[in-house]
Parts: sequence; C-alpha cells; structure tokens
Amino acid sequence: MRIVCVAGARPNYMKIKPVMDALERRGAEVVLVHTGQHYDESMNDVFFRDLGIRPPDRFLGVGSGSHAEQTGRVMAAFEPLLDEVAPDAVVVVGDINSTLACALVTAKAGPLLAHVEAGLRSRDWSMPEEVNRVATDRVSDYLLASSPDAADNLRAEGYREDQIHLVGNVMIDTLFSNLERARQSDVLERYGLSKGEYGLVTLHRPANVDDPEVLTALLKALGEVAGRCPLLLPVHPRAAGRLAELGVPGGIRLVPPAGYLDFIALQDSARVVLTDSGGVQEETTALGVPCVTLRDNTERPITVEQGTNVLAGRDPERIVSTVNRVLDNPPAPRRPALWDGRASDRIAEVLLGGGSADSRLRPT
Ligand code: UD1
Ligand code: UDP
Repeated sequence: MRIVCVAGARPNYMKIKPVMDALERRGAEVVLVHTGQHYDESMNDVFFRDLGIRPPDRFLGVGSGSHAEQTGRVMAAFEPLLDEVAPDAVVVVGDINSTLACALVTAKAGPLLAHVEAGLRSRDWSMPEEVNRVATDRVSDYLLASSPDAADNLRAEGYREDQIHLVGNVMIDTLFSNLERARQSDVLERYGLSKGEYGLVTLHRPANVDDPEVLTALLKALGEVAGRCPLLLPVHPRAAGRLAELGVPGGIRLVPPAGYLDFIALQDSARVVLTDSGGVQEETTALGVPCVTLRDNTERPITVEQGTNVLAGRDPERIVSTVNRVLDNPPAPRRPALWDGRASDRIAEVLLGGGSADSRLRPT
C-alpha cells in the first residue's frame, strides 16, 4: 500500500507527522511530498527538526504567489508526480492552498483522497481557507473529522455516512507527544519571561494584517492589554512588513516566528493567548490556557463550547473588555472527546481497513 502524504506550510507539519507515523507503523509505504508553500527556516526547517520529520521524498518548491499562481503551480507540479508515484491514496491535511491544489489533482487522477480535518466551517467566505475547506471536502473520498460539529456539518451538506469518520484531532497527537520536550525549552529564560505573567499573541489572517486600518485598531487594543499583561508577539512573515511600518505600542515585544517546541512552551506558560490562528485555538484548549480569538467567527466552535476559547472579534473595546474578563475569570479547562493523542491511529485504521498494509483501502 503506497500512500502520498502532502505538507506545504507551517500548520501542516504537526498534522501530517503523526499520520505518517501511524501509517508506517502498519506497514504502509509513505511518500512525503512537500509543496514548498512555506520555505523560511523559521516557518519550515525548524518544524522538521523539532518534530523529527524526515526530509521530504519529493519537493515541489512552489514558494509564494497569488492564490491562483500558488494553487496552479502546486497542481502543475503534483500531477506528473502522482502519475509517476502511482499511490493507492493521497492524504491532505488542513485548509491551505496546497491542500486544495493536491486534492483537485488527486480527484481527477484516480487515487483515493483522504482529508484530515474535514468538515470545519467558519461560514465566512471572505476567508480563503473556507473555500479550500469546502472544495477539498467535496472531492474527498475519506472525510476525517476532528470534532462532532465538523461531522455534523458534513452530514448537513449531504455527504454519505460511510465517508465521514470522526477520528479526533491529530494536532493534539503531536502536542501530547512533544509536550514534555517542549517543557524543557529555555525559551522563557531567553525572552526574560515568567510563567503565568505574560500574554502570547499571533496574527496572520489576511483580514487582520493586510489592511493597515484594521491592524492599527488591533494594535491599539493590544497596547491597552499590554498595560496589564506584557505581550510577546512572534511575527508571521505575512505581517512583518506592516508591523514594522506601523510600529507597536509599548509593552508588546516583537520576536521572530517561534519553532514548534518553543511555541508550545510559550503557550503552556502564558497567562492568556490572543490569536487569529486556527491551530492555536485548539492547542490552548488542549493545554487549558485561556485563548481570546481576534476574529468574529471560528471554524472550531468546539474550542469555545468545550474549551478555553472566547471570540472577541476585531473591535478594540470589545477585545480589551474580553481580555479583562478572561484574566479576571479564566475559563475552566476542559478537553473535547477524542482529543486524546490517538487520532492518527484511528485514521490509519480507517485507511488501512483494520491494521495491515496488505488490506485494501476500502473504496467509499
Ligand atoms: C498560509 C495559509 C493559511 C495558514 C498560514 C499558516 C493559504 C491560503 N493560507 O497563509 O491558511 O493559516 O499559511 O501560517 O494557504 N512568506 C515568507 N516566508 C515563508 C512563507 C511566506 O516570507 O516561508 C511571506 C510571503 O511574503 C508570502 C506571505 O508570507 O507572500 C504569505 O504566505 P502564503 O503561504 O501565501 O500565505 P500565509 O499568509 O502564510
Ligand atoms: N506555531 C509555531 N510558532 C509560531 C506560531 C505558531 O510553532 O510562532 C505553531 C502553533 O503551535 C500551531 C501551528 O503553528 O501548531 C499553527 O499554525 P498557524 O497559526 O501558522 O496556522 P493556522 O493554524 O492558523 O492555519
């Protein structure tokens, strides 16, 4: 059984690693394809080192570009590769342009397609990721859902019950298997931080960082929060130029993007996390750390209903009052079912039909 696993950008690496391991443990031949959507040392290489991912078997080197350029370049490079490698199945994760590009090529080329993190919906069509999520699910054979709400979304959209598999959250597999190593990181000392006394911020959604007016309003709110709790902001390359142009209020420290182990350590010891990241909403819930999401919606409502996440939107006053409320009265830590570190094993069982790489992938 030959299975192509696709990764392309920062939030893919921690999702694909446990799936590759679970498939290989059962004897499948895994071919790791890296599209090259992210390429900086701090957005890419550090994750391969921290997570112990072997060098990709194939590298497409697509780099940055407009949505059409990037998606098109991945498709054009992935099509001949698929022809040559001739896998039984392709696994894509998440919702980035590389996910959609490889899904579309696979759907027309013949191998079975499995989407890890299927069914998440923000219902916000201004997010490029929402387009990628919906379109990827539409052409997938296996819809591997991380939470019951995602499985319900798929049912409501008319997918067949035998396509939908509620397997749990692979990000949490990686989080749990690396948490002890992360706790040994010296990142707090390096940045002069003490446990429970700082806030951690990430910002990279186009809706938050591309428009200077929106970003200025967010920085105003962060400046007020920093008056109560100093903030550390590892800067995503998408936001770097604009943050440098606008400057940041006192109390906010800008640092380069953190590696995986350092970033988990920073989340684990934070008093509060403010973010527009998808994955960080999930990791804070699993760690029981308060999270304030700087968006009006989330495709991960389980982190609000059963976790530590609160949606604060983009209005500065609402952000400040939400953070104050969370600091005064932190949400009780709870962890969703199946976020238990075994999601990737369930995925391998679904794909390999019960534990052996000799068993055929069940057609759906
Ligand atoms: C992408 C994903 C987003 C995901 C994010 C994770 C899409 C549509 N977006 O957004 O869903 O949340 O990754 O971090 O797929 N850049 C660098 N170095 C790099 C990578 C990017 O400098 O290694 C800069 C380039 O200027 C590039 C910009 O960041 O144009 C945006 O990169 P891109 O991959 O297009 O989108 P992200 O905003 O990173
Ligand atoms: N992350 C990291 N360093 C950082 C910011 C995030 O290692 O400086 C990790 C984070 O722990 C999570 C993943 O990157 O595992 C989330 O990726 P990102 O926020 O870029 O994308 P999203 O989840 O929003 O698609």
